[in-house]
Amino acid sequence: MIQKRRIGIIGAGHVGVAAAYAIFLRGLASEIVLIDKDGDRADGEAMDLTHGQAFGEGVRVTSGDYGDLANAQVVIITAGVAQQPGESRLALLNRNVAVFEEIVGQLDRHAPQAVLIIASNPVDILTHVTQTLSRRDPHRIIGTGTLLDTARFRALLGQHYGVDARSVHAYILGEHGDSEVPLWSSASIGGVRLAGQTVMGIPFDHAGMQTLFEAVRDAAYAIIARKGYTNTAIGTAILRLVAAILDDRKSVLPVSRRVTGEYGLEKVCLSIPSVIGRNGVEGAILPPLDAEEDRRLRASAAVIARGLADISL
Ligand code: 2OP
Repeated sequence: MIQKRRIGIIGAGHVGVAAAYAIFLRGLASEIVLIDKDGDRADGEAMDLTHGQAFGEGVRVTSGDYGDLANAQVVIITAGVAQQPGESRLALLNRNVAVFEEIVGQLDRHAPQAVLIIASNPVDILTHVTQTLSRRDPHRIIGTGTLLDTARFRALLGQHYGVDARSVHAYILGEHGDSEVPLWSSASIGGVRLAGQTVMGIPFDHAGMQTLFEAVRDAAYAIIARKGYTNTAIGTAILRLVAAILDDRKSVLPVSRRVTGEYGLEKVCLSIPSVIGRNGVEGAILPPLDAEEDRRLRASAAVIARGLADISL
């Protein structure tokens, strides 16, 4: 018998719906359950997606409550209060911790086996909070972290060099936020290192690359100032993570997870390239860092540690 693939999405706001829509179009699940404290909103979104079934891939979309998540393989948490224009992700912190206490308790009761994907901000801290509150193995709790920033980085580098973003290999690690770290020393296209080289006829220009990185780092501020929120790119990042988990792909993705000595760091959740499969985080692959990247990653971990010090768990 083919196993049913049930995915829960907590929060039917912009991000939850973008993730649901991506999963729906790709036919990645047999069933998506949308849960929101505003039940009408979840109902409306489930109805709207359901009406696309004639053109879809057979994904059933329902709205419900936590009791409907029995046997869900993956639950995506997008709930929380939204980031306001100009507001830093860390400023959202205390408003969101209270929301998570309720959600995590419900998930432990009704979907104890599911791998959890945390997308709410500040994502590194809320991943840590979830790991602290939940009884499940911490490897089964993953924050989207810099998967999104890395996608932005690859997209902008792809545009800059005139190549497919999927052929660009370059990571952003650390905090999903202002202290995130670009790994220029290992950034490559087609096996050719970008730093200090000419690729596709384009020399590596330090000032230009710094500007490109700043556009990545500040992308959320730029988008929120224009459309009020970000949702579609994070929806595709969540899709990628869900596919890696459900298909047990062992994909190497930079996601927020607890570090236990990697790069000499511990006690915080931050993004490093991690092997993602059926059991969540199954390993890490650590690209070498140059001295500046190492210094910046430590500083980024310290920013997250300071954020954690502000909350009582
Ligand atoms: C983003 O980077 C706001 O974290 C969200 O788009």
